[in-house]
Amino acid sequence: MTGLLSDKTVLITGASAGIGEASARLFAREGARLVITARRAAELDRVAAAVRADGGEVVAVPADTTAPDDLRTAVQAGVDRWGRLDGALNNAGRTQGGGRLADVDEDTFDAVLTVNFKGVWLAMRAEITAMTAQGATGGSIVNVASIGGTLGAPSQSIYGATKAAVISMSRAAAAEYGRDGIRVNAIAPGATMTDMMTAWQQRDPGVLDRLGGLAALGRVGQPHEIAEAAAWLLSDRAGFVTGMTLGVDGGAAPWPH
Ligand SMILES: NC(=O)c1ccc[n+]([C@@H]2O[C@H](COP(=O)([O-])OP(=O)(O)OC[C@H]3O[C@@H](n4cnc5c(N)ncnc54)[C@H](O)[C@@H]3O)[C@@H](O)[C@H]2O)c1
Repeated sequence: MTGLLSDKTVLITGASAGIGEASARLFAREGARLVITARRAAELDRVAAAVRADGGEVVAVPADTTAPDDLRTAVQAGVDRWGRLDGALNNAGRTQGGGRLADVDEDTFDAVLTVNFKGVWLAMRAEITAMTAQGATGGSIVNVASIGGTLGAPSQSIYGATKAAVISMSRAAAAEYGRDGIRVNAIAPGATMTDMMTAWQQRDPGVLDRLGGLAALGRVGQPHEIAEAAAWLLSDRAGFVTGMTLGVDGGAAPWPH
């Protein structure tokens, strides 16, 4: 059976939970050969075992997206095993844990910037280096931004700014590498039911209902719904789409003040 991602080698960062885990499971079902990465080796092994139990092919490489060598090693693992890298979902990210702008401490600022922005740049650098070495057959990169990158969401000032940076960097990279056959797009999920949202709900009871209420569909999203959009963008079926940011947010309206 052929799937959306048949015969493609795809790397996923932050694949141990949430949107990354759902993407690993979906992409494998769509025929991708996977390199999954995250910091927590045991959680990564759990996801790899689930993918294999489903008939998927996967290598699991523990990697911190703030560590350049980890990312090079992960990309190389895919190239060593399957000869090339066709796609990447740069998904690893973290929140600032709430707080208005003047209440965010410098350590949190630095950590959010490093994981969400520098980490995506480091991952893209390693991936694009491998993809350009393949010649004109290129590849497809999808970076996970957020609706918070454009919305101006309260308690997410630093987080949102890093996601805006990811959107901007994705557009520029699309322009730089289009002639190499590399497409680069971002997805901007709305509120999605993962550990990240569970933690937010614990800090701020009722936020799930409020965020769900902002969406035209009247609910928050599920991780597999974000993964579906990413799978399409990674596939050849999106072959003329690059430099775009696809909102996957149930039709979210601007934040009420
Ligand atoms: N859940 C939402 O509502 C929502 C909305 C918009 C965007 N996003 C984005 O989606 C992405 C996935 O988040 P999620 O909701 O699945 O949350 P999650 O917390 O379930 O998953 C985040 C993943 O990133 C990994 N990670 C964090 N820092 C890392 C690092 N330095 N190196 C490697 N891995 C690291 C975590 O271990 C985990 O696997 C993030 O970029 C997040 O900002 C989430």
